[in-house]
Amino acid sequence: MEHIPVLLNEVIDALDVRPGLTYVDATAGAGGHLGRIAELTEGKSKLFAFDRDATSLERLAERFGDKVTTVHSNFRYLKESLEQYGVNTIDGGILADLGVSSMQIDQGERGFSFQKEGPLDMRMDRSESVSAYNIVNQWPEGALADIIYKYGEERHSRKIANRIVANRPIESTLALAEIVARCIPRAADKKNYKKSFGSAGGGYIHPATRTFQAIRMAVNEELESLEDFLRESLTILKPGARLVVITFHSLEDRIVKQFFKMAAASCICPPRAPVCTCKKETEVLIITRKPITASDDELLANTRSRSAKLRAAQKLI
Ligand SMILES: C[S@@+](CC[C@H](N)C(=O)[O-])C[C@H]1O[C@@H](n2cnc3c(N)ncnc32)[C@H](O)[C@@H]1O
Repeated sequence: MEHIPVLLNEVIDALDVRPGLTYVDATAGAGGHLGRIAELTEGKSKLFAFDRDATSLERLAERFGDKVTTVHSNFRYLKESLEQYGVNTIDGGILADLGVSSMQIDQGERGFSFQKEGPLDMRMDRSESVSAYNIVNQWPEGALADIIYKYGEERHSRKIANRIVANRPIESTLALAEIVARCIPRAADKKNYKKSFGSAGGGYIHPATRTFQAIRMAVNEELESLEDFLRESLTILKPGARLVVITFHSLEDRIVKQFFKMAAASCICPPRAPVCTCKKETEVLIITRKPITASDDELLANTRSRSAKLRAAQKLI
């Protein structure tokens, strides 16, 4: 399935793309957003495309040639990776569109899909050592239940973890999906479905969706990477440059929201402190008071957009 970029026009507006400035697409993926940035900058900008998936980068290199510098790195190492190209500051903007691409999900052998037979892998970067196999087959039951509950927001997490441990070793995606599905009464799943996606969902959500999402987030340390990325971005953006982040999970959105709020604060003294002693300065202007979400047209055209939330900020100092 072709990867359709989410909130494309909204990303371009939020980044305020202008020829001549330098931009980083920290999650270049299939190059949807990057392609539009490249068009609008008319060959006059330096563009960096990060992805921790070497396969995505090979395709991007073929498509963009020397118009774009491809960087195989986790975006949590943004600063250090850019320094290797002699870049210490970014004057245009940085974009992160989190999660996995449709291309990654479509390749059964990557192990992301509960609908395609494949190994329990789920690593975005296949040179890393921890895969879904390690988590599913080696983690203690309690730790497994905790991530399924926390990252998957799955009410049946304890039962699922228990059945996973009882069925070890589990070798494939479909075997795992079946074990999970047997733990979830259909009625409960329908209820969860309505809660998560409301009327915009337009379809049945597979009972293994939340568990697979949770394991993927743990394998790739997605929340930890996001926290590091935000911190690093703030240190390299020049005044006036933009940071735009699209999240697909409530925990990710909360991290971005809190980070922006803290960066925008002018004082972080305890509320009852008689005078301000923190010397905190306002580092960013929040451009999106509320997160931007997909229009009805986009929701119809691209189901991936239904949980997308875009937040943007402009660096001030
Ligand atoms: C949702 S896709 C991005 C799609 C892209 N915006 C487009 O329009 O084609 C996310 C991509 O980011 C990559 N990715 C996710 N987390 C990453 C991280 N921490 N560092 C670098 N790349 C990451 C994934 O491998 C995937 O290719």
